Amino acid sequence: MADIEEITAKVSALGFDKPSLYPAPTLNLSGNPFDLFRSHIAALLAPISGVAPDLLVTSLENTLLPERGDMVIAIPRLRIKGQDPEQLAAKWAEEFPKSDLLDKVMARGKFLQFFFNPLFLYRSVIPMILKENSSYGNSSIGAGKRVIVEFSSPNIAKPFHAGHLRSTIIGGFLSSLHERHGFDVIRINYLGDWGKQFGLLAVGFKTFGNEAELENDPINHLFKVYVTVNSAHSSEKSVADKVEEIANLEKKLETELSEEDKTRTTEALKASQEELPKLIAAARDCAVILDPNSSLKNIDISDIDPNVFASRPVDTEAKAYFKAMEDGDASALALWSRFRSLSIKKYRDTYKRLNISYTEYSGESQVKEESMQRVIDILDKRGLLYTDRGAKLLDFKPFNKKLGKALIQKSDGASLYLTRDLGAALERYEKYKFDKMIYVVASQQDLHLAQLFKLMELCEFPFAKNMQHVNFGMVQGMSTRRGTVVFLDTILQETQQAMHDVMKKNEAKYEQIDNPDEVADLVGISAVMIQDMQAKRVNNYEFNWQRMLSFEGDTGPYLQYAHSRLCSVERRAGFSTEEILAADYTLLTEPVAGELMRVLAQFPENLLFALRNSEPSTVVSYLFKLTHIVSSCYNVLWVAGQPDELAKARLALYCAARGVLRSGMVLLGLTPVERM
Ligand code: ARG
Repeated sequence: MADIEEITAKVSALGFDKPSLYPAPTLNLSGNPFDLFRSHIAALLAPISGVAPDLLVTSLENTLLPERGDMVIAIPRLRIKGQDPEQLAAKWAEEFPKSDLLDKVMARGKFLQFFFNPLFLYRSVIPMILKENSSYGNSSIGAGKRVIVEFSSPNIAKPFHAGHLRSTIIGGFLSSLHERHGFDVIRINYLGDWGKQFGLLAVGFKTFGNEAELENDPINHLFKVYVTVNSAHSSEKSVADKVEEIANLEKKLETELSEEDKTRTTEALKASQEELPKLIAAARDCAVILDPNSSLKNIDISDIDPNVFASRPVDTEAKAYFKAMEDGDASALALWSRFRSLSIKKYRDTYKRLNISYTEYSGESQVKEESMQRVIDILDKRGLLYTDRGAKLLDFKPFNKKLGKALIQKSDGASLYLTRDLGAALERYEKYKFDKMIYVVASQQDLHLAQLFKLMELCEFPFAKNMQHVNFGMVQGMSTRRGTVVFLDTILQETQQAMHDVMKKNEAKYEQIDNPDEVADLVGISAVMIQDMQAKRVNNYEFNWQRMLSFEGDTGPYLQYAHSRLCSVERRAGFSTEEILAADYTLLTEPVAGELMRVLAQFPENLLFALRNSEPSTVVSYLFKLTHIVSSCYNVLWVAGQPDELAKARLALYCAARGVLRSGMVLLGLTPVERM
């Protein structure tokens, strides 16, 4: 906390009496205007009320409506026994000493309302915002603390679905938000890069993978390979299941059955036998796509022995491959490792478009066997595991009924998603000694994370209490405009095109933009991101191309438009920052100017609130509120054609608004455009 004397000197340099201040250590007096008022009001109210200043500090609240004052205390919150809150409010309002920083102090029912002197806000806050490399809105509450934010975490060779998109957007925001509050942030991408499916993928790639395509577009190519090999895999399973079903029905018919049962079984058998050739045909087609030289190519279906598929050749090969990977076989791992690194390379580019970069690309594959074993041993030693058919399980019931049971180790010793996560956490702690770890993962995995956190507690890991799951709802209907599966890249590509089309509709404007492709890209990305962060994160929402790309209503393009319009006001006025900073703010007399100032002063509070709730929508709503007020200012606070002094004062306010808008947009991960 800055020195009280330094602060009072600063206030007096702005032309106000030296204020009394109460030095509460939690307050950010130099960076948060509301904290300065908390400290000032507490210093003046404590002697009259006899209430402890710390309690006053925490009881002072923001208001929603300016007519209720800028801050308010609800007297009942102070829990003063045997006194009527209304009378106290009236008495304290009466006795409150005169202050240069406050316009008035009023009692209203059980509330004591404080109205700030707007001139003080103009003079103190505008320069804070306009200063070069402004850190307005930042704080140091996280200084010396390290936080890990794990987010995005897509699965290699599978689509980057809406859940990953949300995790990416929300996680990127939370990382920046923590950084702005002084935390040392470690960003981790925990890839889904291990498991049986990589055996399958390798089998597919060996038969019909294409080197050039892999290099060129690994994510799409691997997905294509995976889809094909996976359909071969499931079609052979369908044949195998059907063959087994037929055998069972035949066996049943050999036993003694009631007439009725016999008829039913015979009918079922007939239906299954009729179905089998279709399944064989499907499996044959898949096998031929997988291997165009397959000997099955031109054989009549009736000549194919169903056991070709019923023995599950693809499955057998895939399992053997994955087993080789798990056993550390160098050549099996080499192929997998190429898939992984080429995918990461591609992901990097895509994340860059969203202004995100990672400290570390880790993943399920990176968790050491030894770490998982350590965790299993701890649980075992504490007598928490029981064995069922060779597998190790844990029953959460004695600790929490809702968590059910969890498999900790399979009978073949193979590791599991949950155990890997537990091992990963331990490794991260040993590597980073974090103070807090945040998992940004969809609500669908609430149970998984609750089990994970409980297991950490049961292991008595020192970090167990510092875990946070930031969850979020689903996105309905996120698909490309043609309705196919989604990759983030494709979505961004399509958004850019669509945005471009929207922009072209205004020909005159479009022609003034030097770099329409880039602008369309940045504005399009804002559309996707704002749509995602607009409502509380726990809510589901519907992916809506038309609405999100519109310039009307609360959308990403609207924020970009508001920002570029403020830039244009600034450009056209043509004053330097020094000239603007020397403006005479007493000329800002219109109530709407005061309202805008008040909202600008709330920015640091807003960011703290967002931090406390891990909630991007807090910042998004704030920015919309800000842009709406700016837009109503345009009707009243003209700049063009005004006397220089007045123009400068108003411009100062607009520049400050642009500074905060820009800062908020960057925090959300957008790149503000200056012309569009
Ligand atoms: N890869 C997982 C999925 O796509 C998400 C990983 C979440 N993080 C974790 N530590 N389990 O479902």
